[in-house]
Amino acid sequence: MKDVDVTKYFKPNLKDARRRTRNETSQESFQIEEKHLNIGYGKKYYIQTYGCQGNEADSEMMAGILKKMDFTKAESFDESDIIILNTCAIRENAEHKVWGTLGRFKELKRNNPDLILVVAGCMSQEEVVVERILKTYTHVDIILGTHNIHKLADYIETAMYAKERVIEVYSKEGSIVENIPKVRAHKYKAWVNIMFGCNEFCTYCIVPYTRGKERSRLKDEIINEVKELVANGYQEVTLLGQNVNAYGLDFTDIEYTFGDLLKDLNDTGIARIRFTTSHPHDIDLKTMEAMRDCEHVMPHFHLPVQSGSNAVIKKMNRRYTKESYLNVLSDLREHVPGISVTTDIIVGFPSETDQDFLETIDLVEKAQFEGAFTFIFSARAGTPAANFPDDTPLDIKKQRLYKLNELINAGYLKGNERFLDKVVNVLVDGKSKYDDNVLSGYTEHNKLVNFKGDESLIGKIVPVKITIAKTWFLMGELIWMLKKK
Ligand code: 5AD
Ligand code: SF4
Repeated sequence: MKDVDVTKYFKPNLKDARRRTRNETSQESFQIEEKHLNIGYGKKYYIQTYGCQGNEADSEMMAGILKKMDFTKAESFDESDIIILNTCAIRENAEHKVWGTLGRFKELKRNNPDLILVVAGCMSQEEVVVERILKTYTHVDIILGTHNIHKLADYIETAMYAKERVIEVYSKEGSIVENIPKVRAHKYKAWVNIMFGCNEFCTYCIVPYTRGKERSRLKDEIINEVKELVANGYQEVTLLGQNVNAYGLDFTDIEYTFGDLLKDLNDTGIARIRFTTSHPHDIDLKTMEAMRDCEHVMPHFHLPVQSGSNAVIKKMNRRYTKESYLNVLSDLREHVPGISVTTDIIVGFPSETDQDFLETIDLVEKAQFEGAFTFIFSARAGTPAANFPDDTPLDIKKQRLYKLNELINAGYLKGNERFLDKVVNVLVDGKSKYDDNVLSGYTEHNKLVNFKGDESLIGKIVPVKITIAKTWFLMGELIWMLKKK
């Protein structure tokens, strides 16, 4: 790589990322430039994705752009001409993994100096990360952020032909770029972004800084994408947003929110609609009514609560209370009887006391969650909570996590047991990881089911009678097999 004019670098800045403008969101349409079309001929790419479904969806777009450039997918790092790490910044250990991998790539690059190494995703949006890469990981060729994936082809051209390092990270979001090609990871289930960014600013969370302000995609773009997926044989879509309940709140010309979108998507012909993730403060009656009335919207709700202590919830800037959260749950259950509810919980938030933790335990007992992602608080530089005084030793935090997980696991089991002897519809994903003769898939309530069946059933929705319920999965028998006996 040549010594580059560093004034060309576009570095991120978390302070700028915090500012929210009133500008309306604009749209652009992606087009690949003629000159980029053959750059990848005979070359291979590998994308390693960390973190959430938003990142998975972004990786599908990067793969789509690379495919347009004529790159093909490599099976491993070793046979790649370009490697992209699509990173996650949500907790420190997510970042550790990336630093470890980058360290190992030094040798790969020594053996193959033409290899192009790219760091993308949420970590790139942090100035400390970019500085550290520039200082210690000089074998990285391209750093791009979450707002400029559509420019990937340009950056690759510069790194490959001009042999110049590219650092281009925008602190502020730009337009929504539609029509970026995608190589989807699955054949029957698809991620569909409905909005980008987050305006919540929970005090522990880096996402509003790395992903920018809330911007909703136009409803027709989303509806058309889902219709196209249906035409291509897809059975399930998962609508993605940091807070899907805020969908449409940024539209200035029409009144159209998440409940309206669910209703319209219900008529597209897609068999299953899921969505993630939600914020308890923003759920409205319209959404619950849509869930009640729309047969294709699945009876599962992921509703992060984070803590059961009102004092902690307040310090997290989450705008609800333990009581109002439980009220939302009972409203939800009234509208959609039998709905399965899962959540996210953070233990060891700065100054969380034993009493606060017991409030969380109490909430978990009352809420009847059927699953949860649980985490120990991780201080993220630049977020308010990183500066909150915190005197709880890590050991105590680990004990709290352990105790919480025991309760959560009991909830998983109970949630599975309620389907014993029942017939459930399973969308068959593929063969089980552990047994080639066994198929696996998910029920409407998002429960994993294993059962014996022919691989011709992959991609179909089939009725299965549940015979065994374990903590992490169910086992069952195909109904038509039973009938045949
Ligand atoms: N520390 C620990 N967990 C976090 N999460 C977000 N930020 C942090 C943090 N700083 C968790 C929240 C969120 C999920 C995606 O990750 O529970 O809902
Ligand atoms: Fe982070 Fe809160 Fe936004 Fe979720 S809602 S992405 S936890 S700031």
